[in-house]
Amino acid sequence: MSGQDGNVDIYEQVMERIEAALASAADRNESLQGVVDALQEGLEHYGWTGIYLVEGDDLVLAAWNGPEATEHVRIPIGQGVCGAAARSGRTEVVDDVSADPRYLVCFPSTRSEIVVPIKDGERVLGEIDIDSDHSAAFTVRDRRFLEDVAGRLSELLVTLPPSD
Ligand code: SME
Repeated sequence: MSGQDGNVDIYEQVMERIEAALASAADRNESLQGVVDALQEGLEHYGWTGIYLVEGDDLVLAAWNGPEATEHVRIPIGQGVCGAAARSGRTEVVDDVSADPRYLVCFPSTRSEIVVPIKDGERVLGEIDIDSDHSAAFTVRDRRFLEDVAGRLSELLVTLPPSD
């Protein structure tokens, strides 16, 4: 078993890997890539992991790791589950994507999704988006963990300038 409630050590290990990746990254892009790599490779129930950043009225995909690229590299704020989380500034957990009319399909195998805003105060800077091939894959532990990761990313984004 890995990545489910009851096995908290795996989350601590992934957080350590994130800290190490951030400490060794040369710039913002490498930092964001290190975070998505640690999440995607460290937690078995994460099927695709991306970080979107706010650019004007859109979310733009800045880093991802998973079996396939997504066509949704730019999502208007307000559209999809991603756009809803960016507009409200609140985490979205969708246990069954087929039952959520907001859901924008990326991968036919996806069953559930979590989107966690990255915020500086009330301002949304971006978000972490994770898809799973399992229904209701994301627990309260995932939510708390990813909100901690988002807090770490917020510090990074306000201190590190965009990469060229
Ligand atoms: N499913 C998302 C779109 C992004 S893909 O999951 C990578 C949504 O509904 O906003």
